[in-house]
Order: sequence, then C-alpha cells, then structure tokens
Amino acid sequence: MSEKKFKRTLVTTALPYANGPVHIGHLAGVYVPADIYVRYLRQKGEEVLMVGGSDEHGVPITIKAMKEGVTPQDIVDRYHNIIKKSFEEFGIKFDVYSRTTSETHHKMASDFFKTLYDKGEFIEQTTQQYYDEESNQFLADRYIIGTCPHCKNEKAYGDQCEACGTTLGPMELINPRSTISGRPLVLRETKHWYLPLDKHESWLRQWILEGHKEWKSNVYGQCKSWLDMGLQPRAVSRDLNWGIPLPIDGADGKVLYVWFDAPIGYISNTKELLPDDWEKWWKDPESRMIHFIGKDNIVFHCIVFPAMLKAHGGYNLPDNVPANEFLNLEGDKISTSRNWAVWLNEYLEDFPGKQDVLRYVLTANAPETKDNDFTWKDFQARNNNELVAIYGNFVNRAMVLTHKYFSGKVPQAGSLADIDNAAISEFVSYKAEVERLLAAFRFRDAQKEVMNMARVGNKYLADTEPWKLIKTDEARVATIMNVCLQFAANLSIAFEAFLPFSSEKLRGMLNIENFGWDRLGAMDLMPVGHELNAAELLFEKIDDEAVAAQVQKLNDKKKANEAAAHTVEPIAPTIDFADFEKLDIRVGRVLECSRVPKADKLLQFKIDDGLGGRTIVSGIAKHYNPEDLVGKSVCFIANLAPRKLKGIESQGMILSAEDADGRLVVTTTLDTVAAGSQVK
Ligand code: MF3
Ligand code: ZN
Repeated sequence: MSEKKFKRTLVTTALPYANGPVHIGHLAGVYVPADIYVRYLRQKGEEVLMVGGSDEHGVPITIKAMKEGVTPQDIVDRYHNIIKKSFEEFGIKFDVYSRTTSETHHKMASDFFKTLYDKGEFIEQTTQQYYDEESNQFLADRYIIGTCPHCKNEKAYGDQCEACGTTLGPMELINPRSTISGRPLVLRETKHWYLPLDKHESWLRQWILEGHKEWKSNVYGQCKSWLDMGLQPRAVSRDLNWGIPLPIDGADGKVLYVWFDAPIGYISNTKELLPDDWEKWWKDPESRMIHFIGKDNIVFHCIVFPAMLKAHGGYNLPDNVPANEFLNLEGDKISTSRNWAVWLNEYLEDFPGKQDVLRYVLTANAPETKDNDFTWKDFQARNNNELVAIYGNFVNRAMVLTHKYFSGKVPQAGSLADIDNAAISEFVSYKAEVERLLAAFRFRDAQKEVMNMARVGNKYLADTEPWKLIKTDEARVATIMNVCLQFAANLSIAFEAFLPFSSEKLRGMLNIENFGWDRLGAMDLMPVGHELNAAELLFEKIDDEAVAAQVQKLNDKKKANEAAAHTVEPIAPTIDFADFEKLDIRVGRVLECSRVPKADKLLQFKIDDGLGGRTIVSGIAKHYNPEDLVGKSVCFIANLAPRKLKGIESQGMILSAEDADGRLVVTTTLDTVAAGSQVK
C-alpha cells in the first residue's frame, strides 16, 4: 500500500468485450473482487466510485457481425445488454456501467488522441501490411493463417503457431492466407500513428520498479519483464471501418486501435456519471485510482495507459493494479470459442437465487496469485460444508432458538462468563485481520477470516449447549442467545461485501438496518426486547444430481461444439443479389453415369437439362455407385465455363454437400420437377 494520503478512490474494472456474455472467469478475476473492495469502502463511509462499461470496438466484433450477417452495432447492442444484466443480477454494483459506443466516449477518446497528436507525442510510420483483396481489408495478425516456418503446421496464425507454440509475425508465415475469405494475401502500404513507448521507458521503470514495490508480485513481475525486454513503439491506429475515426486529416478509413480507446472509456464513463464533477476523480492528487483487471491486461494498464495519461498531462496515474491470474474450469482453460465456460445467465437459470453461492466459491478459489480451478464438486462442497454447515447453520440456530425460548425477542444478557468473553474477544479479533487483508487486495483470505467468525459462533453454541440448559437455567440461556444474536448481526456486516444478498436476507430476519463497518465488533447492535422476524434458511444444500447435471451439461456442450467446429466453415463475404443472379443453377435428370478410367475420384454424367443434354464430370466416385444415380434429379450449375477433366469436357458442376468427415452428398429436390427447371 502506498503511504500517500488520499481523499477518495476511483475503482475501474476492465471493460468486457461486447462480443459474448460474461462467464465465471470474468467474475472471479475482476468483478467480484472489485465489488467486494468497493462495497467495503462504502461500508466504511469512504468516497468511492466504481466505473465500468462494455468494450465495443475491435476486430472480433466486426468478424462476428460479418458471420451473422448483422452490423457490429447489432452485436454490441445485444451483448452490452446481456452483460449489464448479468452484473446487476450478481450484485456487482457499478456507479456507472456505460459503453464505448457512447457519444461522450467518442468525443473523449477523439479529443484525447488530438491532444497527443498536437503535442507531437506520436510518431508516424508507413509499413507494408497484408491486405485481403476479397474482403477489402487489412487483416489483424490473428486473422492471417499460413504455414509455420518452424514446424510446417499449415494452420499457424499470424501471431502464433498453436502446434509448436512459437510466437510469430505475419511476415514469417509461408503462403499467408485470409481466414476471412480463404484467399492469398497481398502486401499494401499503410500509414499509422505510434505511441513511442521507448521514450517513456525510463520514467516507467522508476515509477513502477522503484515506486510501486508494493504491487502484487504477479503484476510487478510482469511489468519488470516487459521493461527489461525494452519497450517498442505501439500503433494506436488501425485500418478498420468500426471504431472511432482518427480526428485528423489524411487518415481516411482509419480508427483508433481498440486498446487506445478502451481505457479512455474509464474517463468517459466517469464523465457520463458526473458531467460537472468528473475531473476531481481523475486529476486531484488526493484522488487515487485502482484498476481491477485480468493478467492479460497488465501491460495495457501498467505501461501503455499510464504512458498515454502522462503524455496527455494533468491526469493521475493508477495507485494500484491488483490483477488476477486466470480461473480454469474443471481443469481446462475457459474458452468462449470452445464453449468451455459457465455463463452467468445460464447459471442463474439452473440455480435461481444462488448468486451468493457462486460469489463465495469464486472468491474462495480466486486466482489471486496463480491460475486456479473451478470444479462443480468443489462448488457443492463449499456450499454444503461452509455456507450451509457453518454460516447458515449458526444463524438458523440463533434464530430458531430465540423464537422457541424467547418468542422471537432479543433476551436480556446477564453478566458474562469466561466462555462468553473468550468467544466475543475471539470473534471481534478477526476485524483487524479482515481490514488488513482487504487493504492488500487479499479477498480470498479475507473471506476465510469472515467465515472463521461464523465458526466462532458455531463453536460457542456447541460448547454452551443452551438447548440443554433451558430446563434448568433460563437466565444463562438468555445471555447465550443475546451473544449469538449479536454475532449474527455482526456477520451481516462482515459478510456484506462478499455475500450481499445473504446479508440483506439476514438483516430482514433480524429486522435490523444496514450498519456501517465501524459498528462491526459491537455487541449491542440489537437492544433487549428487539423483535426478530421469522427464521428462513440462508443457504440450502446442493445435491449430487444437481452437480452431476452441470458436469454433464459442460461435456455435452463441449462435444456439440467440437462437432460444429469441424463441419461449419465461416460464412463467405456477403454478396449482392446481382452476384447471386449470375449463377444459373438448374435441376437435371441423370441419364447415364459411369466411372472415368484411370481417375478414381471422377464420375462422368450424361444429364438431361431440358435442352438436349450435356456432359458433366464430378469428383464424387468415392461416395456413389454410378448405377445408383441413374434416374435421380440433381442440382447443377448450368453456366459454369466448360473445363477439361481427364480429357473430357465438363459442362457444368453438380452440387454436393460436404460432411464433416469429407463425405460428399449430391443435392436433389424434395419433389420431382421437370429437367431444366431453374433453382432460385
Ligand atoms: N476488453 C478488454 C478485455 O476483455 C479489456 C479492456 S480494459 C480497458 O481484455 F482498459 F481497455 F478498458
Ligand atoms: Zn509451428
């Protein structure tokens, strides 16, 4: 922790890409810890803002739109709403959750660029980049595919070969092709603007390596290795038709690189919330800023964005960047494209009302210092053995016994025995520890300590056994129940940041207000005679079937996805109706069909096309017996330029569908139609 005094805290959370819903990895890595931290500061009465929003630019969104045949705006509208709703449902309490397609943001990001441009903070460079003449665009590295120069894998990407793991540049690929059109690529010149990070290296070294030794070791370590490798200029513009246009002349068709505009979104969103008052959160030296992010975002938040802020001038730099590592799922990396994920919207369909269970488990397993694993078995165990058996059980017994023995009213405590004092002092002693851990962003351990407070309560009940004493010593039982009820009320405070839904429910049962953090540890939260509401269960057991069903669901989705990945090719670029009309597709009847000598793939057809007949050669010999096709109706392209195959002139092409395993199936019509009929 930095020693500097501050007045207020601005918490930012990584802006999720609006090209899919959010999953448990997002929650565990960024949003739950940020929410815990901010709720805790709010409980302490501190001035704090939590700023979030959707990241709505970038290439993947345009590709997804193209595949679905909709606009990028359609895509981001859809997912922005889904994501926003998921956060609300899980109690992630943003002060503002906006989006980078907002007008405020476009202006903010555009002005930011212009300021840097006018100050001469960029360098301009013209380079050769791969261009897809078919889809008319420069391609980002990962949309270029080709042969790996090291292992000869034919499906290496322009940024990496997944077969041998080598990091590549697109220029290293042999036979580079477009993943969008499948076509070979050409090199074209293009001009871009670069932020010369090399010029910022020395102050960054000083600021991070000397000034922020308190940062988490995974964050500090990654920064150090970037700095030790030496920083390079980074392009801040892209050739793309989706994004924020460069606000300068001579930059047609160019937009801000998504990683330039997105972090500025934190500023824009603050301004959207506080149009007249946003600057003090960003510029007052007494404000501190904390970025909650995942590990893949470290370089952007610790190096690139600070360099942008410094180059601009007038802005605070982040005080801390408590980045998390990754959460795996059942031992395997979470992956949107492989559909290996637990999506938040789906979780709530299967476990309605159990937001806190997921919050609890994700915090208990938070990947704070290393990658960690989420398993459904562990989810069940933590629910049943911790939430139900410790916290829920304690609260339930305190409630039920009070209703039974004291008609639901807080009884008068007599003088405290040693065992009471010992329990109270142990219970209260956790507070300082929880504070220390939260200040150090150690949410996992902090939550563990709060659960230990509930353990103290449980043990106290087990040791004092009021259900045995009630027959002989009601006054003593009154004391014990008073202590238990005060503990329960304290737990609603201690758990508020972690399990807000349960705390709210508990406050409802205890009929108490939402106390601030400073009241934690007080043993007079409820006066004698205070009336409780009815007891309800805070948590319920989760049975083996429910857990098995989740594992099954994951495996089913994985299988379905693997099958789909093999069969479904990306949709080709959109064509006009006029392009479609150029194709003359017709139905023909097969009059004759025979194998082509010395060509094991080819069949020669004589087709009745309604116009006297024609010959077509087709490469489907492996899949059909020629005699089985005679008399069948097939679809064929009637206006394809003739080609010679094995010396035979083929006058058209018979249409077949290709299966995942390469099997070709001839297309035909559902009902019989006259030979020569057009297919439209
Ligand atoms: N959309 C990015 C991701 O999911 C995070 C952007 S964070 C911001 O990795 F700083 F750029 F906003
Ligand atoms: Zn390779």
